[in-house]
Amino acid sequence: MITDMNCKDDGQLVIQTLAMPMYTNANGDIFGGWLVSQMDLGAGILAKQHSHSRTATVAIDAMKFEKPVWVGDIVSCYALLTKVGNTSMTINVEAWVQRAIGDQQELVTKGTFTFVAIDDHGKPHAADPTKR
Ligand SMILES: CC(C)(COP(=O)(O)OP(=O)(O)OC[C@H]1O[C@@H](n2cnc3c(N)ncnc32)[C@H](O)[C@@H]1OP(=O)(O)O)[C@@H](O)C(=O)NCCC(=O)NCCS
Repeated sequence: MITDMNCKDDGQLVIQTLAMPMYTNANGDIFGGWLVSQMDLGAGILAKQHSHSRTATVAIDAMKFEKPVWVGDIVSCYALLTKVGNTSMTINVEAWVQRAIGDQQELVTKGTFTFVAIDDHGKPHAADPTKR
């Protein structure tokens, strides 16, 4: 398990998008569920690239919402594969924003996503494509 690396510097950019008004909650801030879905999509891209397989999210852990996301922010999700098991892949994901005004990127949310490589019947198979 890799622990001393961070997603933004050591991982890869997997999703970049714009926070739009349609994703706001009752407060007018961006809804956390939308952000989690972006992070899940991004981690899923990395899992698919690693396993050359269909994958399914089996767990989302250690989610921490550090700062709000606002309409007009550029949202970037960085993902780092930290562990490959028999069928599973553990991926740390960080969401960073560039605010509508200013150049600085700010870490807004992080979490750990676990994916399982699955066959055509939805059954787990080796995450390493050379082991199938
Ligand atoms: C993903 C799925 C195919 C796994 O099937 P399963 O029979 O539960 O598989 P297993 O119990 O053998 O676990 C498979 C791997 O996931 C890991 N795993 C299972 N639950 C886990 C959890 N809560 N956290 C971390 N890893 C977990 C296991 O350790 C195992 O890893 P390994 O093979 O690398 O050792 C099945 O649970 C499923 O279809 N879930 C629904 C997935 C889905 O629809 N996701 C989207 C939600 S909207």
